[in-house]
Amino acid sequence: MVDLSRPSGPRIIAVANQKGGVGKTTTAINLAAGLAEAGCKVLVVDLDPQGNASTGLGVEDRDWTTYDLILDDAPLEAVVQETEIEGLFVVPATVDLSSADIELISNEKRSYLLHDALRQTAIDKFDLDFVLIDCPPSLNLLTVNAMVAAHSVLVPLQSEFFALEGLSQLMLTIREVRQTANPDLRIEGIVLTMYDNRNNLSRQVEKDARDNLGEMVFKTKIPRNVRVSEAPSYALPVLQYDSGSLGAMAYRHLAREVMHKNKKVAA
Ligand SMILES: Nc1ncnc2c1ncn2[C@@H]1O[C@H](COP(=O)(O)OP(=O)(O)OP(=O)(O)O)[C@@H](O)[C@H]1O
Ligand SMILES: [Mg+2]
Repeated sequence: MVDLSRPSGPRIIAVANQKGGVGKTTTAINLAAGLAEAGCKVLVVDLDPQGNASTGLGVEDRDWTTYDLILDDAPLEAVVQETEIEGLFVVPATVDLSSADIELISNEKRSYLLHDALRQTAIDKFDLDFVLIDCPPSLNLLTVNAMVAAHSVLVPLQSEFFALEGLSQLMLTIREVRQTANPDLRIEGIVLTMYDNRNNLSRQVEKDARDNLGEMVFKTKIPRNVRVSEAPSYALPVLQYDSGSLGAMAYRHLAREVMHKNKKVAA
């Protein structure tokens, strides 16, 4: 039976893939919206200097950002903002974060800064169930910070040629993080994005992924859906922009899978 009750304590999930444009931000925003719709309290941490997750969630005020959180010891209360969506919060990012990768190098706690920031006791005040970290398209120190801070990594995989090519590099980084800083880091799962049922290539990528990665691949596939790509320009998740669209329904399903998995882990 699918267990949809709230997990105990915030589960921190890094949404990562060093490949650009595979649906990381879209997944972070819409999975967060799906979890919030199901009654969870969710924080999206925008860890990408492009700030796309912040824009997609309608953030206007970017005075306090992820940069302040990890590099200036800003308290969570200062950087967390409410969104239009009940139960959904965000820490926004700006292009300032692009210098963080270099600034971090000379910091002896460089890999642990986000970990420590998300374990401030003040996080209890928000009573969060999930924290989703939207990573940049790179395996740089920002992404490593996300993996050190997280309980698990969720990997969006675009249903196109070469999709699986970059995965071994990503898995290697996860293994390194496990060996050094975060032995309990799990793979939350791999989610096929921009899936096109009519396209042989999508079906082939799915077969390859399921044959090679088995249970790690979420049952839910995110279809290529124009409503998903339109939603950010209205500063809304697709679940709010077009609640009945195929994209919205798929992200709702993904949220149920994620809740179920985390219930089992937390139990
Ligand atoms: N299911 C979908 N259907 C249609 N378009 C989609 C879908 N998912 C993502 N897109 C579009 O694909 C583009 C890339 O998506 P997104 O920004 O989420 O990827 P990303 O991995 O975060 O990119 P980056 O690596 O630059 O951070 C965006 O224009 C987005 O709107
Ligand atoms: Mg992105």
